Amino acid sequence: MNLLNSFSFELPTRIEYGVGVAQKLTAALRDLNAVNVLIVTDKGIEASGLLSEVTDRLAQDRMKYEVFSDVESNPKDYNVLEGTQLAKQLQADCLVAIGGGSPIDCAKAIAVLATHAGNLREFENEDKVTGDVLPLIAMPTTAGTGSEVTFSSVITDTQQKFKFSIHHTKIAPRIALLDPEMTVTMPPALTAATGMDALTHAIEGFTAKGSEPLADAVALYAIELIAAHLKTVVFDGRNLEARAGMLLGSVLAGISFSHSDVAAVHCIAEALGGKYDAAHGVCNAVVLPAVMEYNMEYCSDKYARIAAALGIICKPAREGARQAVEAVKKLAGEVNIPDFRSLGVKMEDVDELAYNSSINGSNGSNPRPMSKDDYLTLINSMMS
Ligand SMILES: [Fe+2]
Repeated sequence: MNLLNSFSFELPTRIEYGVGVAQKLTAALRDLNAVNVLIVTDKGIEASGLLSEVTDRLAQDRMKYEVFSDVESNPKDYNVLEGTQLAKQLQADCLVAIGGGSPIDCAKAIAVLATHAGNLREFENEDKVTGDVLPLIAMPTTAGTGSEVTFSSVITDTQQKFKFSIHHTKIAPRIALLDPEMTVTMPPALTAATGMDALTHAIEGFTAKGSEPLADAVALYAIELIAAHLKTVVFDGRNLEARAGMLLGSVLAGISFSHSDVAAVHCIAEALGGKYDAAHGVCNAVVLPAVMEYNMEYCSDKYARIAAALGIICKPAREGARQAVEAVKKLAGEVNIPDFRSLGVKMEDVDELAYNSSINGSNGSNPRPMSKDDYLTLINSMMS
């Protein structure tokens, strides 16, 4: 790291963290002068009872709200359009997203379309959002996405079967209510996949080209927290302290990658998610060790520091880097992440997946320069 490099660091989201902070929703809405609230969530959150806990409190506090609960996993362009239509119809002045990354990312895109003319993909990539968007309060129910503090929204173009990103600081939630109790009902497989997504954010955020010191510092602490708590939450989901550790790890990882970037793991995971509608966390988890191995020569000093954050002290750096890769591979196995072949990738799709990975907006951030042929090599090696 060159200490003479300049950087800027902005965090537009107010973070409220702690057991019971979900009960501060009404106060948060009042802080934003919200009158017509649209809650954006999914059927799983509705079925789990988490939604009614929130809406019962809003009703008691006489807050006016409506619910849009049709967000699908890997949120689809048509989910955003339906939600936008409802937001406009209600003249919503504030959005509340309850759920994992899908409802939060969908709400961010609704916030844009409800306030800007144009088609969704006109806002793709960096800084296409010109004006203010609807304010958003995020209440994460998984510890993985980090979307509650990031400046991006990832949406699936269902015609192209391609995941694209909208990226602007204006779409960051205004307030994030991080309550570990909201994550305790998550089942083990989802806990493992979302936890590995958070670990990927921290590792990619720390090693991305263009990472900077504040993002690096939070990434290393995120890795420590996730390494300390992931296995516990997968096998003992009611352990509130471990759930808190994961939620904190996840938000720190989110802060890290939103100030640097993600890289090749996410490029491949998003290509897979767009093509097969596969779960984002699982895609990251199965791809992460292979990409780390592929990148190792290009960031071995940073991998050695990741090894230390994982609790492994090694010299020389190269040995630490190798052990970091092994430790991540082992952790994925211990929390029962399936292997790459379980994603059902077809040989005839590999070329398209490699191409879509290479055109991902985060490809340039990978520490090792990655062409379409590099992605082909990597995906073929995971297929075999
Ligand atoms: Fe992710």
